[in-house]
Amino acid sequence: MEYVIETTAVSKIYGKKSAVNKVSMHVRRGDIYGLIGRNGAGKTTLMKLILGLVRANEGSIRLFGSNNLDEGRKKVGSLVEIPGLYKDATAYENLSRFSLLFGTPQEEIQPLLEFVGLGDTGKKKAGAFSLGMKQRLGIAVALLGNPEILILDEPTNGLDPAGIKEIRDIIIELKNKGVTFVVSSHLLDELGKVATTYGIMNNGVLVEEISAEELRAKCRKSIKIVVDDVEKAKAVLTERHPEIHLETAEGSLKIFSDVDDLSEENKALVQEDVRVYEIVTTNESFEEFFIEKVGQEQ
Ligand SMILES: Nc1ncnc2c1ncn2[C@@H]1O[C@H](COP(=O)(O)OP(=O)(O)OP(=O)(O)O)[C@@H](O)[C@H]1O
Ligand SMILES: [Mg+2]
Repeated sequence: MEYVIETTAVSKIYGKKSAVNKVSMHVRRGDIYGLIGRNGAGKTTLMKLILGLVRANEGSIRLFGSNNLDEGRKKVGSLVEIPGLYKDATAYENLSRFSLLFGTPQEEIQPLLEFVGLGDTGKKKAGAFSLGMKQRLGIAVALLGNPEILILDEPTNGLDPAGIKEIRDIIIELKNKGVTFVVSSHLLDELGKVATTYGIMNNGVLVEEISAEELRAKCRKSIKIVVDDVEKAKAVLTERHPEIHLETAEGSLKIFSDVDDLSEENKALVQEDVRVYEIVTTNESFEEFFIEKVGQEQ
């Protein structure tokens, strides 16, 4: 498999602290790679390493299957931390200045502004934009030159639900045009829903890299049954469903297979003198999976 971004045991050490610790990440073309981790997990530093904004202490990075990072980075757009916009300039003027700086064609500007929903902001200065508008302008800057990869550091941070949706829609539309994304988030927010692969970071370490599909399978549906006699309940249920996948805990058991009619199970248990106090159907959420990987917040 060829990856458009591949890091191999890459590390960045500040003083004695490994901000990024031997991270091997794999981004496939067309991915929306969700880089998830709490404050200080190392997300921004990893992005800066990929972009060449900081130097790695060890490890290697490949872009588009090549070690020629200068070439590769020409095809990578980014919005990392606060976009450095010209506050006293309009949206158009901002893009125009960055376009000159990057040497990209001016004809791109108006279509880009319209694409991010800033086509009619006219004379309004970027300094007077809402946070969501600033983020969208920042994304437009990142899109100059038609990059194949976009690296966005917490693009929805601080936005309201409507603002988050706007950013998410932009990402989906670009993905459909073939753009690959690395998007970070410390919250398991709306953005999480569009990712195709997750990289979960904790304390500088990439603790898990998992496709959305695998994750969905892991966060499968389960049925928790609270009873007075777990062993007996287990025997009854296993007798009825030999193929059942079941886990027991103190005072309850969990079934992971689909059982059509829960009232039938309830009846069978009661007939065998098992007291059923509660039956709850749950989906382990991504949030729970995440906490399992990185621990509770201190
Ligand atoms: N320039 C720097 N000098 C010293 N330490 C740094 C520097 N940049 C980052 N760090 C440290 O490295 C660790 C990782 O920081 P980083 O900003 O990459 O995390 P993050 O996941 O982006 O966090 P956040 O969600 O707060 O943005 C933190 O402990 C941070 O204090
Ligand atoms: Mg950060």
